[in-house]
Amino acid sequence: MIHDLWYKNAVVYSLDVETFLDASGDGCGDFEGLSRRLDYLEALGVDAVWLAPFQPSPRRDDGYDIADYYGVDPRFGSGGDFVEFMREAESRGIRVLIDLVVNHTSDRHRWFREGRDTGSPLHDWYVWSKTRPTNFRRGVVFPGEQTETWAYDRAAREYYFHRFYDFQPDLNMDNPRVREEVRRIMGFWLELGVSGFRVDAVPFILEEAPRSRRKPTTHFEYLEEFREFLQWRVGDAILLGEANVPPDQTLPYFADGDGLHLMFNFWVNQHLFLSLATGDARPLAAALQATRKLPPTGQWAHFLRNHDELDLGRLAAHDRRTVFEAFGPEPSMQLYGRGIRRRPAPMLGDQARLRLAYSLVLSLPGTPVLRYGDEIGMGDDLRLKDRAAIRTPMQWSNERNAGFSRAETLARPVISRGAFGYDTVNVEEQQRDAGSLLRWTTRMIRLRKQCPEVGWGEWRIVPSGSRAVLAIEYVWRGNTIVSVHNLAQEPREAKLRLGGGALTNLMDVEEIRAGHDGIHRVTLDAYGYRWLRLGDVNQALARQVVD
Ligand code: GLC
Repeated sequence: MIHDLWYKNAVVYSLDVETFLDASGDGCGDFEGLSRRLDYLEALGVDAVWLAPFQPSPRRDDGYDIADYYGVDPRFGSGGDFVEFMREAESRGIRVLIDLVVNHTSDRHRWFREGRDTGSPLHDWYVWSKTRPTNFRRGVVFPGEQTETWAYDRAAREYYFHRFYDFQPDLNMDNPRVREEVRRIMGFWLELGVSGFRVDAVPFILEEAPRSRRKPTTHFEYLEEFREFLQWRVGDAILLGEANVPPDQTLPYFADGDGLHLMFNFWVNQHLFLSLATGDARPLAAALQATRKLPPTGQWAHFLRNHDELDLGRLAAHDRRTVFEAFGPEPSMQLYGRGIRRRPAPMLGDQARLRLAYSLVLSLPGTPVLRYGDEIGMGDDLRLKDRAAIRTPMQWSNERNAGFSRAETLARPVISRGAFGYDTVNVEEQQRDAGSLLRWTTRMIRLRKQCPEVGWGEWRIVPSGSRAVLAIEYVWRGNTIVSVHNLAQEPREAKLRLGGGALTNLMDVEEIRAGHDGIHRVTLDAYGYRWLRLGDVNQALARQVVD
């Protein structure tokens, strides 16, 4: 078995401690609750969890506004609870990744409060301008919620740069002391046992503040600096970067193997939704091709939905409209026209299509990242503001508060009504139902891990004879896997020219032999999918054991 580059064949599960399980009974999830649910995560089969920020924070951006990098927000428990959790995770072989949010701090962070004094050494930890820059509206990340990127600070009597909300002043990464502090933050959490970081807003961390009209420089060397530090401290720790950039700009983030290990593939994500909306696999296939090139140690992280809106900003205008019409037609489902604030289950509507979408994500060449609640098909609450719609508590059972908490009032409301209410959608019932989405997801995760070819292999898109069908072949160490997905609402037949041997269905008792013309014909139901092994299965297993 391969232990190095573990992230190449891992399944990652993302969650927010706040909404997972409340053990203390105060209405807010906590580390003790999360620890109690590690058995659940182990049974699900995930290799790593990625935790949303849990450090002390005013939580005006759900924790992405950190006020102290070296602690645990008391509402989630103590540092002791964190260490207990780490120990419990380790004993189950579950790795822990945490968010590294260092593009900005909260405006309540001591560094910013003291840095407002222009005489303080901390002043230069942020990005200031004595006059209002002419481009003070440029580079807004949250249009509709944010109008400018430079705000006036009365105490400093200067303007400070904030790429995101005005309560999130950007750190000045060009200041070597700030970068030293970032290394210290990484070192601190690595010492407590984390296996790496999901790095928030990478392009903005690296980009100098846009003070003038000229294009700001992106300092990829800072990333290499962080990577070097990380790897010297803990050899197999990783950086998983959030960088929603077009394909022609991605490679520098991997820095030939000296930058990010993993990067979320937003390009594929948006084109995957376009393909789901149109029933045409070609946009997804083209997106995979466009992002094919990676250094050998680099890897894409694929996801269906995350904790943010489904950002459609990289699609051409008419394609974006198509996806909005299919999956977010109502204004309440949209987030200021930038994206869709829904969970997959209500968005895709149909169980077959939902399973197709997850089978796709698990089979795309790369590392799948799942999000809590999607394994049971949780819904969204569009009455809640902005992204809060998709950040509701985990639905464990049909008991009061979905079994999430015994408190009278909750920090965040559970979904209690409608088709996605917790009496209908919950873990406890799905565990007992062999046909449930939870049981299906568990099987699929196991299958994905039995097919290291998907994470490690060389892959190619195989012509299928149908524009609705995406077929991918993965070859690794002499073994070949083929995945076939029908995005259409009607049955399809895929005609694959793969070379010798029979195809064995890895999910069912089925063998498909090539016809006299050398073509394997795979019949697929509406939204049907197959994971297949080409050639002799026993030989393939023997090869795996030998390796
Ligand atoms: C990232 C996070 C998002 C947050 C933003 C500002 O995009 O995913 O949730 O609001 O950074 O930190």
